[in-house]
Amino acid sequence: MAFDDVIIIGSGIAALIAAEKLAMDKNVIIFTKASKTASNSFHAQGGIAAAVHPDDHWEDHFQDTVAAGCQHSDLENLQMLIENSSGHLFDLAQKGLKFDLNADGEWDLGREGGHLKRRILHAGGDATGKALIAFMFQQIKNKVTIIEDTMVVDLIVHDQRCAGVITKNTSGEIVDHFAGATILATGGCGDLYSYTSNDSTVTGDGIAMAYRAGAQLTDMEFVQFHPTLLFDGENTLGLVSEAVRGEGAFLVNGDGRLIMEGVHSLKDLAPRDIVARAIFTELGAGKSIYLNIANVKNFSYRFPSIFKLCMENGIDLNGNLLPVIPGAHFMMGGVKATHTGQTSVVDLYAVGEVACTGVHGANRVASNSLLEGIVFGNMTADAILSKKYKAFGQNPYSVKNRSKDMFLPTKETIKRKMMRHVGIVRNEEGLERMLGWLEQFYYSHCDLGGLSVERIEIINMLTTAELIATAALERMESRGAHYRSDYPTTNGVEVRQEVMHQKEIKLS
Ligand code: SIN
Repeated sequence: MAFDDVIIIGSGIAALIAAEKLAMDKNVIIFTKASKTASNSFHAQGGIAAAVHPDDHWEDHFQDTVAAGCQHSDLENLQMLIENSSGHLFDLAQKGLKFDLNADGEWDLGREGGHLKRRILHAGGDATGKALIAFMFQQIKNKVTIIEDTMVVDLIVHDQRCAGVITKNTSGEIVDHFAGATILATGGCGDLYSYTSNDSTVTGDGIAMAYRAGAQLTDMEFVQFHPTLLFDGENTLGLVSEAVRGEGAFLVNGDGRLIMEGVHSLKDLAPRDIVARAIFTELGAGKSIYLNIANVKNFSYRFPSIFKLCMENGIDLNGNLLPVIPGAHFMMGGVKATHTGQTSVVDLYAVGEVACTGVHGANRVASNSLLEGIVFGNMTADAILSKKYKAFGQNPYSVKNRSKDMFLPTKETIKRKMMRHVGIVRNEEGLERMLGWLEQFYYSHCDLGGLSVERIEIINMLTTAELIATAALERMESRGAHYRSDYPTTNGVEVRQEVMHQKEIKLS
């Protein structure tokens, strides 16, 4: 048993930003279930959005975000995010983070879907996440303890207060860790789908453990599909940033038809849900989809990671056509949290993609996710620094059920079924079918500590899949990333769907 002031679960940007600030005054420990670079933040290509140009204004950025979010955004939290964005980016630049510059030595601002102006700061061309994460690891070096290859199995929660976490390492050792404050920064759940841009470790762990702990969740039906993942005809191979379209690339089908013509006034730079659905329609008609990069200047220099990805996978760029397909990219819903990370469970905080503060509405606009991690990571740390915490006794839980031999499906089966029934276009029949299939597994009645890491991940995937499918069934309209073919229009009156789990089980 150990006590730390603050435990952070996850090692993406929200985790590292919060850790850096908290380490000024607290003992901070980060647990990450794989390597510390196994996060979506590390893979982020496009960049970070902020109105830093003199011709831009935070209110324009705010309006573009609201429009893409389909009138579902929490406006107060969103204002908090956008109004504070440039200040935090100037701070990072002042500390030494190097954003790419143009020929005049000014920040080279890119453009992405849903943004009416060029406002995307980037680093290393299309390796913004890698540059940012490497920079943050330097900032927290020798100040924060990072424990890799150690999975947080569950939160220790008693009387709606979080007292810490239960971990399991690669040798199977189970340890209780107590803390004054616990921060969930585990990312989303893209790996629930066969086609995804996400790191393979992103299996909905934070969402599932918060749910088991009785925390309130919200907006779980809103899963964003990124329109352009490189595709070899069978598997997705990695992200092709929207910034490529921002530099002039456009989508065509196998017949060479411009598929975004007449679909939206922003054409290829329409919000992601609209582009992803246009591609889905073409795929349904048996067409292949390509990103034509003929107009992109210095492609290999501006987008070195994507160029390398194409080379490694034998994609011939002579014809300027990249084969692409949409894939799960971002969860707009998650653990209900304020802009300072507070959840419905006392001393449990959530920040970054695992949290739902409502800022992304029903569809996130490009390059607002690293921004969310930076701004709300800072604000969450401030909130924790301003509170007094005391150590909490011992883990009040006892083992109820031993379920080592329980029957579980493979990850691949879950991913295939999610793609088919809970993907870009949903309907009642498919959602009911998914929920009916999930019913056969008794994953909510087991002792997780007794299971392997892979089986715990499968249980987290099943739990998160059920939450998404249930919320998608309940939302009988189409809005943003949630599209129902049986309810294709958007309702006049907006509602937010919240889920609160009645805890039935005690976990070891
Ligand atoms: C991209 O580069 O297209 C993804 C960036 C994001 O999701 O914000």
